[in-house]
Amino acid sequence: MDWGMENRMKRIFQSDGRAVMLACDHGYFLGPISKLEDPAKTITPLLSYADSIMLTRGVLRNCIDPASKTPIILRVSGGNSIIGKALSNEGLTASMEDAIRLNVAAVTLSIYVGTDHEHQTIINLSRLVDEGERYGIPVLAVTAVGKELEKRDARFLALCCRIAAEMGSQMVKTYYCSDFEKVVNSCPVPLVIAGGPKLETELDVFNLAADAVRDGAKGVDMGRNIWQNENPIAMIKGIRHIVHEGGTAKEAYRMYLELSRGKGRKAAGRKK
Ligand code: 5RP
Repeated sequence: MDWGMENRMKRIFQSDGRAVMLACDHGYFLGPISKLEDPAKTITPLLSYADSIMLTRGVLRNCIDPASKTPIILRVSGGNSIIGKALSNEGLTASMEDAIRLNVAAVTLSIYVGTDHEHQTIINLSRLVDEGERYGIPVLAVTAVGKELEKRDARFLALCCRIAAEMGSQMVKTYYCSDFEKVVNSCPVPLVIAGGPKLETELDVFNLAADAVRDGAKGVDMGRNIWQNENPIAMIKGIRHIVHEGGTAKEAYRMYLELSRGKGRKAAGRKK
């Protein structure tokens, strides 16, 4: 790996080889979802707790202070919307030249394996890797499932992650699932997990992160379960405890409750 590429990877994956990425790119097809109506208001207080932040160039240019030192993972795929015909119908939406201008640490796009747009999204990935290799910019491939969340099983996700790695992506983001080791063991590049839609309790979120790390994930690229929480800083601190300090889900939850105390906001508490 060339110096520039390695330097960028090491800005994303810390000295322990792990990463807490904060995903804030949802607006590219979901519009102003809850808590991201005003991206700056939600993202700015969390910036210093994230190892990197994933977002589009529009939010980056308009909502993030250029003095920020948090590495940027730039979303460069889109062209779809939640009300359109197919979420999988994505193309590349930003050039590598613009990514370099924005001084990003990595670029990211989604691939939609098993959909009508499988071919175009995998070719998008291959082209992006070619461009990234030219300039030393790593690519994070997102194994997207669109609206079909039930697709998240080890056989399918192992297929998606392996294809992403075979196309040359330097890291892959996928979903946690049972038999997750099978996904990890057949993917030769680091894997991180998405959080998915907001879970019922904070403990559920911490369990998800702890199980994923135990089974071989190198960290998380989590969004809604952090910034849609009533106490997002307490959430991301709990996640950091799991990812970087080897903490348990219960420890993270205790930390969350402690940090939330006196904030005048409620924790969701234990699952009933
Ligand atoms: C959208 C994405 C999101 O960044 C991803 O889903 C992570 O966010 P969350 O934890 O909210 O699921 O890639 O396609």
